[in-house]
Amino acid sequence: ATKERGEVTWKTPSNIALVKYWGKKENQIPANPSISFTLDTCSTITRLEYLKRDSYSETFDIQFFFENSLKPSFLPKIEQFFERIFPYMPFLKDYKFVIHSANSFPHSSGIASSASGMGAMALCLMSLEKELNPEISEDFFFQKASFLARLGSGSACRSIQGPVVVWGSNDSFVGSSDLIGIQHPYELHSVFKTYQDTILLVDKGEKQVSSTAGHDLMYSHPFADKRFEQAHQNLDKLKQIFKVGNLDEFIAIVESEALTLHAMMMTSYPYFILMKPNTLEIINRIWEYRIKCNSKVCFTLDAGANVHVLYPEHEKTSVLEFIKNELIAFCQNGQYICDQVGSGAKKL
Ligand code: PMV
Repeated sequence: ATKERGEVTWKTPSNIALVKYWGKKENQIPANPSISFTLDTCSTITRLEYLKRDSYSETFDIQFFFENSLKPSFLPKIEQFFERIFPYMPFLKDYKFVIHSANSFPHSSGIASSASGMGAMALCLMSLEKELNPEISEDFFFQKASFLARLGSGSACRSIQGPVVVWGSNDSFVGSSDLIGIQHPYELHSVFKTYQDTILLVDKGEKQVSSTAGHDLMYSHPFADKRFEQAHQNLDKLKQIFKVGNLDEFIAIVESEALTLHAMMMTSYPYFILMKPNTLEIINRIWEYRIKCNSKVCFTLDAGANVHVLYPEHEKTSVLEFIKNELIAFCQNGQYICDQVGSGAKKL
């Protein structure tokens, strides 16, 4: 089939890992399995316009607009992504592309947009593939979208579906794969279906160390093997926790994973620290509040200083009150984002 021109738009959420991916092999294969909550509010909307070119060319023809302005500086990353996925999408050089992308979260808030951005781009390109080959099934569509997104940014493969996604081959989750993220394949206790994530923006500065550089440092890391083994064990424990809803055990794993991620950064060579003093202030206050109020609130961290505050929906009023009264003071310009688990990407 040929398709002369068209356009498609996908909204794709970000995700937050509970068991962290940190360390990778060739071709974006994770060194250990990970599991994440798909978010709802934090997302990227990407519109892809495609127009058949008059003749084949060896180079890609891409124009990229971010939040309405032409951004040639973003092109090398996008071209690298196209180059990587070209073997799986041979039609990419037959088209001229105009891409418009925008994030729901504040610009340079320190929230990584690579997962939602690469996810949205992969889904838009899959919609074009479906135009060219209408026979492809829905399963294939989402699996290949996750496969392509992974090649853009590893964790992006977990942003296609929701509310819980597993990525990385492991014995506890049937059907898990290093190549794609799969939807959590078992019964999920209802408490997790509406879990809340309030993201406290502690530091909006550019990361001193990119996640690519961080992953690479795991190659020569003295604790790497133990860490990868631990991720498998934590995933195995979470399997049962997700079924029965034991939040104390959930908290113990999630917080340990966050601190372990940062411990890996502090114990690599070169070493680095992404947490800020306010990150630690917030963590300590969460611990105090949890005991004082008999709450199930906990935290997790990404590769940065921001804190994700996780809690069950029935605590929403009280935890938000606590956040406003005690934690906002430690955020840059008092900024935070109220989010919750979501069901994955949507075509608009
Ligand atoms: O997808 P990347 O290569 O940006 O790596 C993300 C790694 C963490 O966010 C720190 C953990 C994770 O599993 O998302």
